[in-house]
Amino acid sequence: MSDFEGLKALVTGGASGIGRATAELLAARGAQVAVLDLDPEGVQKPLLGYQADVGDDESVRRAVAAAVADLGGLDVLVNNAGIGAQGTVEDNDDEDWHRVMNVNVVGMVRTSRAALPHLRKSSHAAVVNTCSIAATAGLPQRALYSASKGAVLSLTLAMAADHIREGIRVNCVNPGTADTPWVGRLLDAAPDPAAERAALEARQPTGRLVSADEVAGAIAYLASPLSGATTGTALAVDGGMQGLRLRPAGR
Ligand SMILES: NC(=O)c1ccc[n+]([C@@H]2O[C@H](COP(=O)([O-])OP(=O)(O)OC[C@H]3O[C@@H](n4cnc5c(N)ncnc54)[C@H](O)[C@@H]3O)[C@@H](O)[C@H]2O)c1
Repeated sequence: MSDFEGLKALVTGGASGIGRATAELLAARGAQVAVLDLDPEGVQKPLLGYQADVGDDESVRRAVAAAVADLGGLDVLVNNAGIGAQGTVEDNDDEDWHRVMNVNVVGMVRTSRAALPHLRKSSHAAVVNTCSIAATAGLPQRALYSASKGAVLSLTLAMAADHIREGIRVNCVNPGTADTPWVGRLLDAAPDPAAERAALEARQPTGRLVSADEVAGAIAYLASPLSGATTGTALAVDGGMQGLRLRPAGR
């Protein structure tokens, strides 16, 4: 499929996990792709890598300007960079709250703000935000992370309304637990990584974790010019975790 032929895309957090799978898929489908990441060292051709911290406005502006200059324009922005936090409201202090909200929410605002003047010039402009099932279901020990993703969901809807008349579509994906280096790090830090993995797998009706490629496929679907009538939506990529209520197996 070459639905992205001639289009230029920017993926934040594109050096690892979901972002990396997305950058590679968009390139395979014909896009010229730039990756913006804290650590773009491992980004390989044909992808272009740019160092930036989405938590810092100056750094974002510089990297977006350089990427757009090298790409020769911008049609697709994938706001994917994000960080985690564990605990209840009693466990994270104000500094943690400001740090995670700054990256997960304001980071998307910064890249969108820098990208919008360029997206307005595109005839197939699309923004896709990586949200989470944590925005739509109450997960234990994820108060701060869930609040940040709830804000991403609302931001997606607000941006979709603000920019629809400029021809810019805005959607988000809500992955369940995805098998990425991030989750690998969480499992490694657990007292019993195998038991932790089994618990996460059992939480999803499919009985397995979501793959980064499956999330990338959903992001590409929403970003594609073939999806021109789709804006202001949240697409679950969660193995049925949000929508299904199964009975125990065999009963
Ligand atoms: N893995 C999951 O289970 C899961 C589930 C739902 C949503 N998500 C979301 O998917 C996105 C990607 O997660 P992943 O699992 O692929 O993680 P990952 O840690 O494998 O990759 C994240 C990438 O973002 C980059 N990054 C982090 N902070 C940054 C910053 N301040 N500026 C620029 N780049 C930064 C990292 O360097 C890394 O390359 C995140 O927004 C996360 O919240 C993940």
